[in-house]
Amino acid sequence: MTERTRKKTRPAATRPRRKPAARTVVDNSLQQLQAEIDQKVVQLTESNRQLKRKIFDLYTIFEISRNFNAVLKFQTLLDSFIFTCLGQVGASRGAVFLRRDATTDKLHLVMAKGSGSIPAENIGIDPQSRLLTYLAGLNRPVPVGDLISDACTPEELTILGDFQSGLAVPLIYQTRLIGLLLLADKISGRQYTMDDIEFLSILANQIAVAIENARLYEGEKMAAMQLRNLQEQLLQSERLAALGEMSAKIAHEVNNPLGIIKNYLLLVRRTAEEKPEAIKHVAVVEQEIDRIAGIVRQLLDVHRPRPPIFSRVNLTLVIGEVLALMERPLSSNSIEVRTVFAENLPDVLGEPDNLKQVFLNLVINARDAMPDGGSLTIATTFDEDWVRTTLCDTGPGISPEIQPRIFDPFFTTKEPGQGTGLGLSVCYGIIKYHNGSISFRNTEQGGCFEILLPTVKKGVERDAGN
Ligand SMILES: Nc1ncnc2c1ncn2[C@@H]1O[C@H](COP(=O)(O)OP(=O)(O)OP(=O)(O)O)[C@@H](O)[C@H]1O
Ligand SMILES: [Mg+2]
Repeated sequence: MTERTRKKTRPAATRPRRKPAARTVVDNSLQQLQAEIDQKVVQLTESNRQLKRKIFDLYTIFEISRNFNAVLKFQTLLDSFIFTCLGQVGASRGAVFLRRDATTDKLHLVMAKGSGSIPAENIGIDPQSRLLTYLAGLNRPVPVGDLISDACTPEELTILGDFQSGLAVPLIYQTRLIGLLLLADKISGRQYTMDDIEFLSILANQIAVAIENARLYEGEKMAAMQLRNLQEQLLQSERLAALGEMSAKIAHEVNNPLGIIKNYLLLVRRTAEEKPEAIKHVAVVEQEIDRIAGIVRQLLDVHRPRPPIFSRVNLTLVIGEVLALMERPLSSNSIEVRTVFAENLPDVLGEPDNLKQVFLNLVINARDAMPDGGSLTIATTFDEDWVRTTLCDTGPGISPEIQPRIFDPFFTTKEPGQGTGLGLSVCYGIIKYHNGSISFRNTEQGGCFEILLPTVKKGVERDAGN
């Protein structure tokens, strides 16, 4: 064997290892590929998770908006909005700030849910402030921490302070900021994610539209109700005016022959002096005639042909006099009287005797409504324009069916001979020409009459305006 041949046939162990090196390279690339695939799988799983969450969010938003649009009741709408926000992003607390009514532009707390302190209800924030103008411009949720600065008003700082590590979500309708949702930190302690922010942003737009819809609906409902009330009041006063006028005319006609009958009765009494039986009969006739005269007097009060002569009247004194007069009849019926008189009650302009008549009628009615005893609470309150008096008893109240008729002349539920049904129509007539109002409502305890009379200041202003 030559050297060359020997070299050729060198044992395998001494030959250079070319093949295993190549395998390592392949192995390495495979491993790398595997790692890349693994990484891709992780990425895809994450994207898939995010996609699923997005689909879920979108589905939730779709469902919620459908519900929002169907809910026209304001409170229910806000309730489900806050609950959805808290549930969906896991916030520990949420508060919504909106305009409470048409009288104010400021945003006030209207609803808060969750644990922890609730912002003060009476603090209002101005939607034109720098903070809210900035938020309106951004039109997306912002971490509250980014908003707290020296440029905030003290009110804003107080409110934002409660939500320091949370989110502020502007509620924007068209281009106008109509409200603000503040969310506190997450229950989990984690940060808010982009998904959360996106979700809240879409939901905020939906709720802003739904809020405006509900507002519009409630506004229209209120306007329709006010219109109906006004129409009813108008009808009632027209009907009462017509009835009153007719009663007054009849009363006027009855008054004259009544005077004549009374005079002749005096003559009859004189001629019958010798006959005790006849005198007894004359007394009965006189008594009944006095009763008719009383009714006629009341009827004339229902409708006032003559202009009233007003003076300053202190209602606390007037009511006090009526109660003094009624002390015995009330206590003998086991009726306890409670008075809650406002201090420094402003005077009203009126005819004291007629106003006394009103309160007397109402107290007598209350007594009649509580034959087995009870209590009567008379309270006065006032503001710049009106003095309000309420007389609330613990009687049975008045059934809704007959309530529209109680101010009608001759409407009574009392036994024949017990009541003429003129008391309340007299009250109505008197209060009307005092430019006030009288109304009745049932309460849990019984019946409650409310009288509103203009204060002297309001009366003078009105007269000056005429
Ligand atoms: N406080 C009250 N609680 C319950 N029902 C009342 C009350 N006040 C008035 N009413 C009802 O209203 C009706 C009308 O009252 P109103 O004072 O006009 O007439 P009246 O009391 O029946 O008779 P009168 O002419 O003697 O006053 C009463 O018959 C009664 O049914
Ligand atoms: Mg009465």
